[in-house]
Amino acid sequence: MSPGKPTILVTGGAGYIGSHTVLALKKAGYGVVILDNLVYGHRDLVEKVLQVELIIGDTSDRALLDHVFKTHDIAAVMHFSAYAYVGESVSDPAKYYRNNVLGTLTLLEAMLTASVKKFVFSSTCATYGVPEFVPIPETHPQNPINPYGATKLMVERILSDFDVAYGLQSVRFRYFNAAGANPDGLLGEDHNPETHLIPLVLMTALGKRESISIFGTDYPTPDGTCIRDYIHVNDLADAHILGLEYLLKGGDSEVFNLSNGSGFSVREVIAAVEEVTGISIPVEERDRRPGDPPILIGTSDKARTILGWQPQYPSIKDIVADAWQWHQKRHK
Ligand SMILES: NC(=O)c1ccc[n+]([C@@H]2O[C@H](COP(=O)([O-])OP(=O)(O)OC[C@H]3O[C@@H](n4cnc5c(N)ncnc54)[C@H](O)[C@@H]3O)[C@@H](O)[C@H]2O)c1
Repeated sequence: MSPGKPTILVTGGAGYIGSHTVLALKKAGYGVVILDNLVYGHRDLVEKVLQVELIIGDTSDRALLDHVFKTHDIAAVMHFSAYAYVGESVSDPAKYYRNNVLGTLTLLEAMLTASVKKFVFSSTCATYGVPEFVPIPETHPQNPINPYGATKLMVERILSDFDVAYGLQSVRFRYFNAAGANPDGLLGEDHNPETHLIPLVLMTALGKRESISIFGTDYPTPDGTCIRDYIHVNDLADAHILGLEYLLKGGDSEVFNLSNGSGFSVREVIAAVEEVTGISIPVEERDRRPGDPPILIGTSDKARTILGWQPQYPSIKDIVADAWQWHQKRHK
């Protein structure tokens, strides 16, 4: 740690976006302590690549949290830990409200007891629901259409109220589709089960899946398939450093979209994978899935203006190339 740079508690730091952010925090000279229950996180990546302290535990464990805050001089918390499977949140909402809302509330109360009052939160474009217009700014109405999005919106509201009542300042980042991997190939996306498009297409390229399903080919988009906004995970990590520094300098609570600002269709993503890998991807065309909006693209002008955030990897080919390098190594 550089002299003068404080220690940050990162929940979910053994997961996909958290691990990339931990690496960025380390590079920027911050001390890092990870709290992760390893339900989805990867211990090997923490031990071999990140090499920071890992506390294996749950955000719902108040006694553990009190102990962590007593034994570490924590300046701020970055809160990545959550469950994030939309379909499962519909079939088992209790699991999601318990982990994503109650777990976060327990963490926030432990922070208040320890007088730690800076919080960076992983929210999502799923809080907007079906967009009334695109591109989506932060002021767009929030009407989530699944319990996952609802849990994130509830935490956003808790954070607004905690600011007013207790002076807990937060940056709430609404990510669009996180994608890509660290360009050095050491870290990347490894969800199990995997539901995200780019890793699924890459697994198909690797022969781990027979084909990729396209859900809906008759959307009102140029090629008939859904368009999404893919943002490189290292750009997300950079935004977190900027958001943290904004709070540490005394910035007021704020909400920011983190998005690329341009969208790519399912067919364009598959074409990018074919171009990067040189492998032809078998495709199965299926019916639309309920609740999939045709186009989700966000504006991130606010993060660019207030935080000075400048995404470095806007091209889908670069995003896919970094992910491909990681997947080849991880799934050898
Ligand atoms: N991946 C995306 O495209 C995306 C988009 C929008 C928002 N988000 C949000 O970003 C965050 C990180 O997403 P990710 O893709 O890195 O997910 P991930 O599953 O890879 O990481 C989450 C980590 O949190 C841990 N965890 C879960 N519940 C916990 C608990 N109660 N206590 C301690 N650890 C716990 C898991 O073991 C895992 O390591 C999540 O909050 C997610 O909702 C992700």
